[in-house]
Amino acid sequence: MQNGKKFTLSVVGGGVGGRLSMDGIKDSPMFELKAATDIRPETCKELEQKYTGIRTFTDHKEMFAKCPTDVVCVSTYPPSHEPITMDALKLPLKGILVEKPLGHTAASGRAILEAVRKKGIPMAVPHGMLVKKVPTEVIERVCRGDIGELKLIEIENDKWDIINAGIHWLNWTVNLLNNEPFKYVMASIDAGTRTFRDGMQVETHAATYAETRSGIRVVMNTGDYVTVNTKGHGTLFRIVGMLGVIEFYGWEDSYYIFNREFPEGKTIKPEEFPVKGHRAHLENMVRMIETGKISYAVPESSLTALEICEAAYVSGKNKCMVTFPFEKFKIPASVNWDPGQPYSGKDGGRDGRKLK
Ligand SMILES: NC(=O)c1ccc[n+]([C@@H]2O[C@H](COP(=O)([O-])OP(=O)(O)OC[C@H]3O[C@@H](n4cnc5c(N)ncnc54)[C@H](O)[C@@H]3O)[C@@H](O)[C@H]2O)c1
Repeated sequence: MQNGKKFTLSVVGGGVGGRLSMDGIKDSPMFELKAATDIRPETCKELEQKYTGIRTFTDHKEMFAKCPTDVVCVSTYPPSHEPITMDALKLPLKGILVEKPLGHTAASGRAILEAVRKKGIPMAVPHGMLVKKVPTEVIERVCRGDIGELKLIEIENDKWDIINAGIHWLNWTVNLLNNEPFKYVMASIDAGTRTFRDGMQVETHAATYAETRSGIRVVMNTGDYVTVNTKGHGTLFRIVGMLGVIEFYGWEDSYYIFNREFPEGKTIKPEEFPVKGHRAHLENMVRMIETGKISYAVPESSLTALEICEAAYVSGKNKCMVTFPFEKFKIPASVNWDPGQPYSGKDGGRDGRKLK
């Protein structure tokens, strides 16, 4: 609220992500939905029926000119986040929400974050797991040592991919690891079925493997046919420490813990936060606007997650280890060498038995 008045809000992109923002603020005393843009006129019609009183447009530039708002949500597909955000930043905005993944590349995501930072306004990236009870309680437990020294974070996710859902899982992982830098990312990617999702070409099956500077491993299996090896779940996180294990299941409301406190294992269902999802991220933005204390911690962790996503795709495509910092990584020249084939004894190379 600003002097008793609500913050006006508009959304670009009236699909699933955009509606999570529009539905999210329905019960919020802090926002008033004014307008939405979608390039599809039929979607505009639907939005007018669903959100009574809003103005709709098929071009975001026209909406920004005719109906400028305090807050803009950029909720289109990743490749258009950057141009739309840059246009939005020309308005006298008080805050901006940019959907995950920030961009279709880490460079695009970085450009967005830098431009918002330069403008000096708060930015929300609605990673729901950061404002949801189970994933935040798991972070608290791991950080206070409930499963001992952390060794492995395993993620299994059926019918999803690295860039669209994996970015949520990796963002949560970056937060669990308290932003510990990564050493490298490697991935093996099968793209045989030419699957696309949310405006991006994605993998049929992928295994992403990463190591942090202290040696913690992150292993993520994504794709169209992933068998999650705890039955009944489409998403699984298995957090392995030296004194215990925690499992939780993406957006589900309970988790399983096995440690000294629960030697037989226990499923725990904590009470959900009263405000979660996009509404929680947008209301956090209001608190930043009102206090003037702006933190870019969530966009920064989202950018790190996007770097890991891109690193995985680069690794898969180029069959190489992608080292971090990602910004400094250069794709190495390819070599004529087939691991698993007999060594002829005369093709050069180096003797692995003599490595120091
Ligand atoms: N944070 C979350 O939990 C969450 C959940 C779902 C989607 N998303 C994100 O939201 C974004 C959009 O995905 P989605 O699932 O809503 O896809 P969607 O297909 O449901 O909707 C996208 C909409 O954007 C419109 N659009 C595309 N380009 C446009 C443009 N230039 N201007 C105006 N409208 C345009 C399309 O017509 C479509 O209606 C993606 O970045 C996705 O990852 C985030």
